[in-house]
Amino acid sequence: MGLVLTLTAQSIIHGIMKKVTFLCIGAGGRGTTYCSFALEQSERLQVVGVAEPRELFRQRLVQAHQIAPQFVFNDWREAARHPKMADAVIIATQDAMHTEPAIAFAKRGYHVLLEKPMAPTAKDCRRIIAAVKRHGVLFAVCHVMRYTTYTRKLKALVAAGTIGDVVNIQHLEPVGFWHQAHSFVRGNWRNTAESTFMLLAKSCHDLDWLRHIMGVPCQAVASFGGLKHFRKQEKPIAAGAALRCLDCAYEPQCVYSAKKIYLGRFARGDKGWPVDVVAPVVTAENLDRALRQGPYGRCVYECDNDVVDHQVVNLQFAGNRTASFTMTAFNAAGHRQTRIFGTRGMFEGDGVTIRHTDFLTDTVTAINTETNPDGSLLSGHGGGDFGLMDSFVRAVSENNPAQILSGPDETLESHLMVFSAEQARLKNRVIELKQ
Ligand SMILES: NC(=O)c1ccc[n+]([C@@H]2O[C@H](COP(=O)([O-])OP(=O)(O)OC[C@H]3O[C@@H](n4cnc5c(N)ncnc54)[C@H](O)[C@@H]3O)[C@@H](O)[C@H]2O)c1
Repeated sequence: MGLVLTLTAQSIIHGIMKKVTFLCIGAGGRGTTYCSFALEQSERLQVVGVAEPRELFRQRLVQAHQIAPQFVFNDWREAARHPKMADAVIIATQDAMHTEPAIAFAKRGYHVLLEKPMAPTAKDCRRIIAAVKRHGVLFAVCHVMRYTTYTRKLKALVAAGTIGDVVNIQHLEPVGFWHQAHSFVRGNWRNTAESTFMLLAKSCHDLDWLRHIMGVPCQAVASFGGLKHFRKQEKPIAAGAALRCLDCAYEPQCVYSAKKIYLGRFARGDKGWPVDVVAPVVTAENLDRALRQGPYGRCVYECDNDVVDHQVVNLQFAGNRTASFTMTAFNAAGHRQTRIFGTRGMFEGDGVTIRHTDFLTDTVTAINTETNPDGSLLSGHGGGDFGLMDSFVRAVSENNPAQILSGPDETLESHLMVFSAEQARLKNRVIELKQ
């Protein structure tokens, strides 16, 4: 006891934070990205365990972090049955596989970092929140947009009353034509029954962000949208049009050609996302095989997709404030674009620069919040990936939930906004949110 007290006191005196250990559940794209924080900040974080059924991905993580064999598992259930081996767990399995591991590891006393969306149903989101509260563990959802330098600056400016009282926000999520084709027509998030609906899969970040910036609860939502383009009826009528891009005579004219999206990037020397999703070991032969046989070589008009390619949501917030949100596939992929209208000024933001118009002086000031654009964790999601990990590791190290910007209550609230908005779209009516 004496030693513990002495060490703790010394740590506080010298400002040394306790090193945190992590177990990674799902070593795919996101799990691997978050774990790379331990490679950059090895004095603060160590990845000591992994559960991942895909051999290649599991071994990559084992080697990168020198994980001991007794802490390497094929399935999260095996890891959950094992005596507790780490301070915290990162759950980065697919959307429909979050609830059970989140509850199981909370029960075991792990602090939980959970990928968004929490779960595909409101009921399961509530079960997760109840479990983390019951077991008294720290909990954060990977709403990385809250953690960017840009958002922190914008939130601080709004909270300081720089543009007076916020009356209305316009927010655009430009998913991007090729990103829509990759993830939401051919890929993992194309089909509601297999994963979840578009607003939850992609735009739960945005409704959460609007709630965060507004700083007051949402009271009612209305929504419209649908799947307009990526359907069989929209397939161009052309001689030689085929089921797969590599066999298709129309392909050179097709905006959504898999050949262009993947082989084009590969030819330019790009082996990163999304090319490495198509073929985890990126070679010309593997890509060719994947495009001939796998899901990513399919014609975008011939897939089993049903999620929307455009959706709008109108939101009524407390205090007579409103917001409108647009998600659309039909643009060049890029940062979200936002206009925030206040009683004394306005902000226009593009994820990097905030342009502040001051009504009193009639002047415009540009504030640059650019982060490291080097492709590392520091730059992912505009610095949000790093910001999230930095905050969560700090929270666990200090046992301080105040470090977490996307904790249980606010995340549940914004997920319920998303479920309500989707109900509003499906039922074609305004839905009021109970507080
Ligand atoms: N925060 C963000 O901005 C952001 C961005 C992209 C994706 N996501 C979310 O992150 C999650 C993961 O996405 P991804 O792109 O990394 O997917 P992915 O498919 O690359 O990774 C998921 C991994 O889970 C593994 N897995 C499957 N069954 C398992 C089991 N029983 N036990 C342990 N692992 C298992 C899979 O083999 C796979 O490697 C999804 O929920 C997704 O919506 C969040």
